[in-house]
Amino acid sequence: MKDVTAVILAAGMGTRMKSSLPKVLHRAAGRPLVEYPVRAALELGVASVVVVTSGHPEIARSLEAAFGARVSTVVQDPPRGTGDAARVGLARVETERALVYYGDAPLMTARELEAIVTASREAELAFASAMPENPHGYGRVLRDASGRVLEVREQRDLESDAERAVREVNAGVYAAKKSVLTRALADLKPMNAQGELYLTDIVAAVATEGRVVALVGSPDALVGVNDRSQLREAEELLFARIRERLGREGVMVHGDARIDDGVSVAPGAELEAGVRLRGATTIGPDTRIDVGSVLTDATLGARVVVKPYSVISSSRVGDGAEIGPFAHLRPESDIEAEAHVGNFVETKKTRMRRGSKANHLAYLGDGDVGERANVGAGTIFCNYDGYQKHRTVIGEDAFIGSDSQLVAPVSIGKRAFVGSGTTVTQDVPDDALALSRTRQENKLDYGPMLRARLGEAARRAKEKK
Ligand code: UD1
Ligand code: CA
Repeated sequence: MKDVTAVILAAGMGTRMKSSLPKVLHRAAGRPLVEYPVRAALELGVASVVVVTSGHPEIARSLEAAFGARVSTVVQDPPRGTGDAARVGLARVETERALVYYGDAPLMTARELEAIVTASREAELAFASAMPENPHGYGRVLRDASGRVLEVREQRDLESDAERAVREVNAGVYAAKKSVLTRALADLKPMNAQGELYLTDIVAAVATEGRVVALVGSPDALVGVNDRSQLREAEELLFARIRERLGREGVMVHGDARIDDGVSVAPGAELEAGVRLRGATTIGPDTRIDVGSVLTDATLGARVVVKPYSVISSSRVGDGAEIGPFAHLRPESDIEAEAHVGNFVETKKTRMRRGSKANHLAYLGDGDVGERANVGAGTIFCNYDGYQKHRTVIGEDAFIGSDSQLVAPVSIGKRAFVGSGTTVTQDVPDDALALSRTRQENKLDYGPMLRARLGEAARRAKEKK
């Protein structure tokens, strides 16, 4: 495909999105819409990709970050229609042939683009069409009695019920020699309901003198995102595609798990229904993520078990670790191999070294928990004094009794014990026991006396009423 340049039109206002963000920057399955058509072109192996944009700096920035120098942008300002956008893009084409399509169609694949380019080698112009259940809103492909393509006419410019009944619609991918496109685009006039230059008008222009092929493809690929309801529809189709791909790669995906496009999952992993994997999350082999867990930019090793309803953000989890149910790993948590973080435990910027455990109800912020150390239920790292965050360091094999507060900055020595209910404000040396609770007193046979006294008080209170 070295004789082909892809021109992607992404400068429209996207008014139907009702958003201040340009349409093509809205995300589907974790990526800005515009990245999908660009990726399809790169997969196809075109000579280069030119994206026509509104000039919003974020579009160029996002493309640069995702694809580097392989993709260039050119600004169409003001946006005067798809025909005008194609002109602007075509001016940057240096190859013999161009493939022009819309930036709001994230489901278009390299395969479908390839078919159009191939068809264009046998005709003056080739474009993609489809037969959706409901053609409303799309440009219709009008043919003569013999089936020859005559023109594409937009929904608002249709003139008869017969035209409106046509099911074949324009999918918005065009391929031709640059010279053919340039000539046809030069003659465009805004003779339509919107007063715009329509790229679709090149079909009629070229059809008067040469052969135009409309290649009928899958209606899925057609889904163009004009409003948020179509964005939702496109995103669900993208998620379904990702689930299918992972299934073929040896990942067991149950039900409606939603996995972003940028996520990588190793074979043998299992994702339960209702799991949401976002951003640049990476899942190692044989790791299991149970129902309702939400992972964002998380890196999980092999054989990790994430029990139901856990939330992991910008954190790492080592091989064989166990998380949840209902655990919350906030950014920069580093849970090493074989460590356990159990129900209602929240970690933040905390390293849980190999084999350490915090199984129930704890807040562990800005900490470092040594190998095999055990953090009891109800432990709190008091990391914030209202002004600054401070660190809590726990040595290897230490034991923190339940309901302890470790007032940071503080460190607990190796093999040390902290007695249950202790408020630790000073460092604890290796092998020591720290205790700060008041001594217990047992008053023998006090129960019956106390009961009589409390009962009498209750009776008197009732009489007063
Ligand atoms: C377009 C086609 C329609 C086709 C449908 C398929 C035209 C006139 N109509 O309609 O036949 O069935 O796609 O989804 O082409 N854009 C620019 N500059 C502009 C205007 C638009 O770059 O001045 C870009 C938009 O960002 C968008 C793409 O072109 O990515 C298509 O524009 P849009 O307004 O969505 O066209 P549709 O009404 O969907
Ligand atoms: Ca569209």
